[in-house]
Amino acid sequence: MLSAVFATLVAATAIAVHAQSGVANCDREYTVQENDFCDKISAAQNVSTFQLAEVNKAVIDPLCDNLHEGEVICLGVEGQDCTTVHVIAEGEFCFEIAGNAGISLDTLLANNPNVNSDCSNIGVGEVLCTANVTIPYTPSTAA
Ligand SMILES: *[C@@H]1O[C@H](CO)[C@@H](O)[C@H](O)[C@H]1NC(C)=O
Ligand SMILES: *[C@@H]1O[C@H](CO)[C@@H](O)[C@H](O)[C@H]1NC(C)=O
Repeated sequence: MLSAVFATLVAATAIAVHAQSGVANCDREYTVQENDFCDKISAAQNVSTFQLAEVNKAVIDPLCDNLHEGEVICLGVEGQDCTTVHVIAEGEFCFEIAGNAGISLDTLLANNPNVNSDCSNIGVGEVLCTANVTIPYTPSTAA
C-alpha cells in the first residue's frame, strides 16, 4: 500500500518536472506567440475560455494581460481536457450553440462554469466547450 502511494508520488513528480508549463499531468502544452491573447489561443488551439483560465490560474491573471511571448502554458490536464469547442459569433446564444453541437443546455453549462445560468454573460470570441459528455473538472479550490 505504502509503496503504491510512493510510486504514485514519484510518477507525479516526474511528470511535473518534465512539464515545461509546471502544470502536473498536462495533456497539451503551448508556447505563447507574439500578440497572443487568451481567446485567440483558445480559438486556435481548441480549448475553452474557462479551461485555459482554470488550468493556468497560477500564472495567467484574470484579465489575461500578463502573457509573455515564449512562455509555456498548459492547455488541458489529462482526463479533464475538453477539445471540442465553439467560438462564439455575433448574435449567438447558449441555446442554439448547444443545439448546433447536438448537446443539452445543461451539458453546455456544466462544461463552461464561467457562463451564468441564463447565459447572459457570454461574449463574441469567447470559446465554449461543446463536448457531449461532462468533463470531470476538479472543483476549484480558489476563492
Ligand atoms: C481544432 O479542431 C478542429 C475541428 O475539430 C480541427 O480541424 C483542428 O485541427 C483542431 N486544431 C488543433 C490545433 O487541435
Ligand atoms: C460524442 O462525441 C464523440 C466525438 O465528438 C463522438 O464520437 C460520439 O459518437 C458522441 N457521442 C454521442 C452520444 O453523441
